[in-house]
Amino acid sequence: MPFSASWSGRAPGRVNLIGEHVDYMGGVVLPAAVDRFTDVSGHEAGEWSVDSEVAGGLEYVRATGEELGAPPQAVTVRSQVPPNAGISSSAALLVATAAGLRPGMAGRDAALLCQRAEQKATGVRVGVMDQFASALGRRGGALLLDCATLDYQVAPFPDEVAIGVIDSGEHRSLAGTAYNERRREAEAHDPRRMRHVDSEIERVHSFVAALKARDFRLMGELLKLSHASLRDDFEVSTPNVDAIVERACAAPGCYGARIMGAGFGGSILALVERARTRDFEAMLARPVLFCSTADGAFATPDARGAHR
Ligand code: GLA
Repeated sequence: MPFSASWSGRAPGRVNLIGEHVDYMGGVVLPAAVDRFTDVSGHEAGEWSVDSEVAGGLEYVRATGEELGAPPQAVTVRSQVPPNAGISSSAALLVATAAGLRPGMAGRDAALLCQRAEQKATGVRVGVMDQFASALGRRGGALLLDCATLDYQVAPFPDEVAIGVIDSGEHRSLAGTAYNERRREAEAHDPRRMRHVDSEIERVHSFVAALKARDFRLMGELLKLSHASLRDDFEVSTPNVDAIVERACAAPGCYGARIMGAGFGGSILALVERARTRDFEAMLARPVLFCSTADGAFATPDARGAHR
């Protein structure tokens, strides 16, 4: 099928409620697409070029285009997804590019293709979670995704619980972190790393049960346990992030908080009573990005419910 002479695509960033550093181990994760978007537009050109405020954009866009077999494109990127802050600006850029160039693709195929593109662009052996959430997230829900089979279900997420993302200020690109090293250690079944992986997968299941029972307090406790495990057993936190998590957990209306995404800095997720978000932010004395769940770039209206 030929590519359009000019095209545009849009895809959201994502949060991960729980299930960190388990996607590449074939575990279950619970991410959600959020209402911060990256818009990409392009047209065929003699060579690949990107006009973007985001560093590294060219590699991501070109890798996605090449995976799709597209000819070189001149691309413009506009993004509301803050870069290097843990809500996956990279996945939003990859998925927006794929959605623009090949809007009719199946969401699962798009997610896998974008994962390959990110791995090629960065040399980081990322899992599929971020691209999957950006492609197939659903407004009003989180995705309970089995990364071994790519089966997923939409788990409704309550309006009364606000999803807060706190930028740690420690920005990094994954290529400069120990991400690959942690993945290698987990794949080699290092006991401490595996203690995190196994316990985190159990926490995902407990979290989903708590979500169904509307036990927000328990959901928050599970976030705190997840943080401790990522800090002590997987060793992807930093002292600065630990301090912010602690402050967030003590702030008004907070059910719980943890480091989110790959770690090594990046961002913190906090679940906060909707009615108390202002008090929470004032006490934390840091800007909090409050997000709502959103549809992914490849989500279709009939894509609700179970997917097998
Ligand atoms: C990054 C990767 C994901 C996942 C998380 C950790 O966001 O892109 O695939 O491994 O880290 O859960």
